[in-house]
Amino acid sequence: MKKHRLLVLGTGGMAGAHVLGFRSCPNIEVVAGVDRDPARLAAFCAEHHIPKAFTSLEEALDWGQFDAATNVTPDSAHYATTLPLLAAGKHVMCEKPLAPRHADAREMAEAAAEAGVVNMVNLTYRRSAELAEAAKMVADGAIGELRHFEASYLQSWLTQDTWGDWRTDPKWLWRLSQSHGSTGCLGDIGVHILDFASHAAGQPITHISCRLATFEKAEGDRIGEYVLDANDSFTMQARMENGALGVIHGSRFASGYHNDLFLKLYGTEGAIELSFDFQRCWMRTCIGVDALRSKTWHEVSPTPVPTNYERFAQALDRGVGEDPDFARGAELQKVLDSATASHVAGGAELAI
Ligand SMILES: NC(=O)c1ccc[n+]([C@@H]2O[C@H](COP(=O)([O-])OP(=O)(O)OC[C@H]3O[C@@H](n4cnc5c(N)ncnc54)[C@H](O)[C@@H]3O)[C@@H](O)[C@H]2O)c1
Repeated sequence: MKKHRLLVLGTGGMAGAHVLGFRSCPNIEVVAGVDRDPARLAAFCAEHHIPKAFTSLEEALDWGQFDAATNVTPDSAHYATTLPLLAAGKHVMCEKPLAPRHADAREMAEAAAEAGVVNMVNLTYRRSAELAEAAKMVADGAIGELRHFEASYLQSWLTQDTWGDWRTDPKWLWRLSQSHGSTGCLGDIGVHILDFASHAAGQPITHISCRLATFEKAEGDRIGEYVLDANDSFTMQARMENGALGVIHGSRFASGYHNDLFLKLYGTEGAIELSFDFQRCWMRTCIGVDALRSKTWHEVSPTPVPTNYERFAQALDRGVGEDPDFARGAELQKVLDSATASHVAGGAELAI
């Protein structure tokens, strides 16, 4: 079996999940790590038995002995680090959001298409079998015409410390600070829930209105070099291509929820509801005569689907792209940019 040599770019909090995910793919060999923090890089490569380590992408590209890269740098670094990889003809999986600005994300998508390489955005929740089943059912017409939806992504790392202390850990602090490239809760998890909702619905969001909120979290809204000005919560109203209307919201202040996604889709002939977190996934449907008469809901247990890592690895074998690709990442970023513009315009509805 041909092994594809993989470079891990950025060896912080999320990179471990990438290594574990790719190590379960028999056609992938993790050959090198890159991080500009030498101590973090050394510890990571030692822990994961990665043979080569570089403190800059340039050094790794000069070495060149890899076929694909997984980009796990912070949001603000995705654009500047992905373009040289594409120019060198490397296949790239990039973390979400593809880039914090649509213009950059679009340029990345164009560069990937021009390079003809496999490109994918790590919209993690595509690994949800429930999401895949919901998308299939909607596409097959199981709930008739979609009319209404409700989607939320609830986190609580600002009110509890399961993932560590956000006040002292740079991995959380950069997410709270616009000058460190963060587009806040909207850019961080809004991208997931927008993908979740519109992928299941099988159609794009065409209109959006949005409100953002940033709460006081530290004296003077600052901790060291980090100005805490990125949004903590968002609420959106959205319209889809067929006119379906819905609400989408997310927060880092959702006490009682660790990391949960909810989606409810209501159509002319039935409904689908699902929720997804690391421990517990459920899906239920109320369709046809059940929706018409008894309002009976049935639990659904779909068969598992491959992770993004597995799908990227399979795409490398085929040499052709996989959804969600960079073009999808750019499409989502356009909605996110419009949501931010809507907030600035006092919550006005904007066409995408
Ligand atoms: N898909 C998901 O569910 C999910 C979950 C968590 C994080 N993420 C995404 O993963 C990315 C990384 O998040 P994280 O929590 O690991 O952040 P992190 O801050 O813990 O790690 C990022 C690492 O990248 C390094 N780095 C920064 N710029 C670099 C550069 N130019 N070259 C080389 N290394 C560089 C940093 O030194 C750091 O070690 C973010 O884009 C985040 O949004 C996605």
